[in-house]
Amino acid sequence: MSSKEKIYAILHDAGDVVSGEEIRARLGVSRVAVWKHIQGMVKSGIAIESSPKGYRLLQDPDSLSAYDFGPGKHRIHIFDQLPSTMDKAIELAREHCPANTVVIAQCQTSGRGRLQRQWLSGEGGLYFSIVIRPDLPIALASIVNLAAAVDMCSVLRVQYGVEARVKWPNDILVNNCKICGILSQMEVEGDQVHFMTIGIGLNVNNSPETSVPDSVSLRSLLGHKISRKNILASFLDRFEKRIMTMDPEEVVREWKEVNCTIGKQVHIKTLRDSCSGTAMDLDTQGGLVLQLEDGSHRTMVHGDCFFI
Ligand code: BTN
Repeated sequence: MSSKEKIYAILHDAGDVVSGEEIRARLGVSRVAVWKHIQGMVKSGIAIESSPKGYRLLQDPDSLSAYDFGPGKHRIHIFDQLPSTMDKAIELAREHCPANTVVIAQCQTSGRGRLQRQWLSGEGGLYFSIVIRPDLPIALASIVNLAAAVDMCSVLRVQYGVEARVKWPNDILVNNCKICGILSQMEVEGDQVHFMTIGIGLNVNNSPETSVPDSVSLRSLLGHKISRKNILASFLDRFEKRIMTMDPEEVVREWKEVNCTIGKQVHIKTLRDSCSGTAMDLDTQGGLVLQLEDGSHRTMVHGDCFFI
């Protein structure tokens, strides 16, 4: 454990003011060193109150700190603000960061969505990108996107009792309002995925309803503030296990159980193309099988889906 981790644990366990002298003695360092570590922790976004009596961790239920992620914390990079967590995650991936590195921003100034849309990223939302290095052929990359949606959907359903459903490919809706969007980018080597960055924007304690029609946040559904840290920790737990034991058939089966797309009349839009029909099925690679007006079938492998 680093000195900062030890200080965090001491303050966290005490839940009250701890004198600089006590921290100094427990770490076996000087008072000045304690003070310097605390300054560094405050700079990295941890709310610590200093007073003549000592130091106290301010327990904001919605705080996000790498120290809260236990042994995996070295892979967690938290920023107050970034243009987009996607750019930072891709930069780290190209610099050979370990798999499951996570980049989190308290807010983003150029958050982006699919089809070159903007993703509004104000305070209170959960914005993160995870770098994964799955041992998968490119043809199965879409399955990873679906898996991310299924796992976030499970967190919302199981832990928060919210009736979350997935709209193809990986939007998460509650009562037809969007609560979560997922964007992925990948780099390939031959026909294998070299790395993927999966970017997730979840409306938690922010208020997207004021500027984005048909959107909703977890706080407005549940009527109280929710800990983003708990959501993220639960998601990472599920998703990292899933990637290690990737079973595409299982992902497709689970996606079908929580989807709200199959059976609906849909319009699918890509950057260059669009197509309307009845959503009939999800194929083994995550493509949406449509029945067109003339009775023929067409499988869409990517795009945005609108209900009509
Ligand atoms: C969509 O529904 O269009 C996808 C939205 C994805 C938004 C997330 S927020 C974290 C990550 N960083 C970004 O710039 N975008 C993704």
